[in-house]
Amino acid sequence: MLSKILKKEAKTIGFVPTMGYFHDGHLSLIKTAKQHMDVAVVSIFVNPKQFSHNEDLDKYPRDLKRDEEMARLAGADVLFHPSLSDMYPDGYATYVNVEGLADTLCGGARPGHFKGVATVVTKLFGIVKPDIAYFGQKDAQQSIIIKKMVQDLNMDIDIKVLPTVREKDGLAMSSRNMYLSEKERKDALCLNQALIKAEAAVKSGERDAVKIIKMIEGIIKERPGAKIDYIEAVDTKTLNPVDRIVGETLVALAVFIGNTRLIDNTILNP
Ligand code: PAJ
Repeated sequence: MLSKILKKEAKTIGFVPTMGYFHDGHLSLIKTAKQHMDVAVVSIFVNPKQFSHNEDLDKYPRDLKRDEEMARLAGADVLFHPSLSDMYPDGYATYVNVEGLADTLCGGARPGHFKGVATVVTKLFGIVKPDIAYFGQKDAQQSIIIKKMVQDLNMDIDIKVLPTVREKDGLAMSSRNMYLSEKERKDALCLNQALIKAEAAVKSGERDAVKIIKMIEGIIKERPGAKIDYIEAVDTKTLNPVDRIVGETLVALAVFIGNTRLIDNTILNP
């Protein structure tokens, strides 16, 4: 309803979908939405459909009061915080699946995850009716899937992807970082450190994707507390693995630090 009124007034709507527990990564999306658009709408909804049974849905961090204040200070005009039954009333039956792209990388490790993401984002887009929606490069595959979905389903929405915001020591900000113990927090640095080494290797002329992946693997395996879920070098559009780093290549990885699964990525473009 609010979106319809804003549209009548020819106000542009920027939208930042989130699961809350804000950090500077979320806030950079909100600030950019506010800078570029008339109205910045932020949603907070911890979407059960993108968690599998053995994942952290129940313990996913939540703090609505804190988030409200942070969102307001970052420039959010509207905070949308639907309940579970608002989003998925009894008898809910419709799903969106972006075939192929949703089945690799994190989708391979977390079956059904991106079907849950695409479904909730479609619903949120339908409710908020944004002109532009903002996503983070931190979740590279998610952004690629959402772009494809918007294209395939003729959604008249621009998708903007903003750079990953990092802690001072390089760790990509994530709501899940709060699960890490002091020791794990140190081990977690290996994700970014390995990606930086990969960037440097490509700068010095290395083009062999297998060698790059092996190098990343070596750096991560130096940390006894780290367990590799996947490390892949893929084409940024198709997400198909590449042998050689010639065009724009996404190097993405997921690593368990203790029980916490962290992801990070970089785009190599020699
Ligand atoms: P959430 O993990 O809360 O992330 C919300 C948005 O913030 C996503 O676009 C994500 O890529 C971005 N983000 C997270 N960490 C970031 C960082 N360090 N730097 C920059 N951006 C970052 O992603 C989701 O929620 C959900 O899957 C959602 C899209 C809301 C659907 O439920």
